[in-house]
Amino acid sequence: MNAPWQERYRPLVDRFGRVHTNLRIAVTDRCNIRCFYCMPADDVVFRPREEILSFEEIVRFVRVVAALGVNKLRLTGGEPLVRQGLPQLVRMLVEVPGIEEVALTTNGVLLAGLAHELKQAGLTRLNISLDALDRETFRRITRRDVYDRVLEGIRAARAAGFQRIRINAVAIRGITEQQVVPFGRFAREEGYEVRFIEYMPLDAENHWERRRVLPGEEIRRILEAEFGPLEPAPRPDPSQPAVDYVFADGRGRIGFINPVSEPFCHECNRLRLTAEGQVRNCLFSLQEWDARALLRGGGSDEQLAALVYECIQGKKPGHGIDDPNFLRPQRAMYQIGG
Ligand code: 5AD
Ligand code: SF4
Repeated sequence: MNAPWQERYRPLVDRFGRVHTNLRIAVTDRCNIRCFYCMPADDVVFRPREEILSFEEIVRFVRVVAALGVNKLRLTGGEPLVRQGLPQLVRMLVEVPGIEEVALTTNGVLLAGLAHELKQAGLTRLNISLDALDRETFRRITRRDVYDRVLEGIRAARAAGFQRIRINAVAIRGITEQQVVPFGRFAREEGYEVRFIEYMPLDAENHWERRRVLPGEEIRRILEAEFGPLEPAPRPDPSQPAVDYVFADGRGRIGFINPVSEPFCHECNRLRLTAEGQVRNCLFSLQEWDARALLRGGGSDEQLAALVYECIQGKKPGHGIDDPNFLRPQRAMYQIGG
């Protein structure tokens, strides 16, 4: 039985014909490390606990958007695993009618202790962020000495039964060049899919510069010089931002997310919910729609659906990083949700 509002607002199609089926949920703005491309080094001000949505509030929001056609969820942050009881949220989300996939992006620091429980809870996929394959470089990037714990987390995830685990590496000129070949080897020998993500202007300290972006194309050339040609892999989901490749000899899967050098905004099907309940239509959006006010103020499901629909209607064709009058969002990555 469909509610009348469902007929009105489903599917979540914007002014440019993009159908939104994918929701990224930030469950906290807190993090246990301090990657320089995301967070300030010190004096981070986190949101007070009472501003953060409860699991029940998140699930209610998800029920509404699932009724509007959203079928994939990804939990992000901050670092989602610092939120107490996260496996319980996963359990609640996989039960929502219409939800087919609940994935998680984590820095891996707490994963060793949680991988098994997350798998049991029904989590479908895991992305683990790891920007360097040597301890010292990783410490410089994250400002914490947690390299061994992350590697342990990655291994625990595999042992817990997760398949096709992805490793996300932010690609930064001056840092990542030396990591490309080790990552290629890691992908080929260990069987993890490695994805390089171009550094975006979402760092808290506002140090991003275009020349610090290491384009995916350049990384591809370094890999091919070392390991031979990369061939495009079949794309099961054409709206996914990554372009995936496999080495011609069949060993090693590599993906590229090139938001800066090759924007994929025209295929974007994502919607975001921040930890404190604001709906965003883009990482770079300058505007937010206040779902928390409705969730806590007696708003109806129909009002929530209308809010999300309005947010989608406000979505711009692209992020505009290259426009001369580009304005960065006020929030940094950890406050938005990666
Ligand atoms: N540019 C690109 N990627 C970023 N991430 C965080 N901040 C940035 C940035 N400024 C990545 C994290 C993680 C994912 C959620 O987003 O490394 O893999
Ligand atoms: Fe934490 Fe993720 Fe931001 Fe790194 S990118 S500081 S792991 S929230």
